[in-house]
Amino acid sequence: MTEQDFIPKTYPKTLKDGSFTWSSPSNIALIKYWGKKKDQIPKNPSISFTLNHCKTTTTVSFTKKERSNHFSFEVFLSGEKKEDFKPKIEIFFKRVEIYLPFLKDYHFKIETTNTFPHSSGIASSASGMSALALCLMSIEKSIELADNKRDIKMSDEFFIQKASFLARLGSGSACRSLEGDLVVWGKHDKIEISSNLFGVKYPFEVHENFKNYQDTILLVDKGEKQVSSTIGHNLMHKHPFAEARFKQAHKNLSRLITILKDGNLDAFIEVVESEALTLHAMMMTSLPYFILMKPHTLEIINKIWAFRQKTNSKVCFTLDAGANVHILYPENEIKNVLKFINNELVTYCQKGEYINDKIGFGSELINKDS
Ligand code: PMV
Repeated sequence: MTEQDFIPKTYPKTLKDGSFTWSSPSNIALIKYWGKKKDQIPKNPSISFTLNHCKTTTTVSFTKKERSNHFSFEVFLSGEKKEDFKPKIEIFFKRVEIYLPFLKDYHFKIETTNTFPHSSGIASSASGMSALALCLMSIEKSIELADNKRDIKMSDEFFIQKASFLARLGSGSACRSLEGDLVVWGKHDKIEISSNLFGVKYPFEVHENFKNYQDTILLVDKGEKQVSSTIGHNLMHKHPFAEARFKQAHKNLSRLITILKDGNLDAFIEVVESEALTLHAMMMTSLPYFILMKPHTLEIINKIWAFRQKTNSKVCFTLDAGANVHILYPENEIKNVLKFINNELVTYCQKGEYINDKIGFGSELINKDS
């Protein structure tokens, strides 16, 4: 597939109005994406667990209007009009217009809600951009269907690939938020179906040790990030360790393929924690340098290491581009790890808050009306 394959022919039909609702999960990367080329092409492959509870639900209602030179839309978060969300969506619409030529033919009302609090430090861009991309794909598909002369109908595979392709143009990691339960994005030698353009379902065997893998997200800092991931990615351009890091991500993904098959949790811990610390090491060694971890992030990491040594638990941590800590552990350790979190880690969370999540199965069409 190339970018050209996602440019549709002109639509001979239009629809008067309609609406679609999709729900999309967040995801947590095991091998991290950090650094990109033009058009959100990643500098290295990444893989993530799709989450189950942290989700965004978005309804896009559309009404036909006279075609004009600008995009016409309004955005609501939990029923409240959000003018400050508009610039990001305007940029997204500009980027994807060539792939969705109907965008200037309709007025869109975008209504979105998150299952997690907006100011939790959990990025809503992955779940938000993928839910929006799916709604737009549903609109495109229904315009195509309206043209009953067309004999080639959009396949489910193409639908999801193009939705992931569009989500990527909104926010890179969003392209990993459509399917479950493990998604790869970025070309990797050993994964033939992998692509830089969209996420694909991890195609190989996964040991049952990873079934229902748990992710408890400790909310260490619920504030806005001081450095956006866009700036962070850009700092990889002249980064002295960039090439070594990109190579390392390829190697770590190769290693993870074996680990996922064999169910070797000690090796899993080593790769996942090393990836998390490498991501933050890249931030600390770029120019300008910055630190997104907080003192409590480090306290939690040390506590996890001590707990593992004392109990032989297979609990480990990973980090996003922020101070919050994702605690990953097998399903058979739920009771012990939650006890450990409540006894020893809650004190490091802002207002004692955390979110229990686990590996999940991807996005869902909630409602359609067209
Ligand atoms: O999707 P972006 O551009 O916000 O980048 C996110 C990158 C990390 O979350 C730090 C890592 C990843 O692979 O998800």
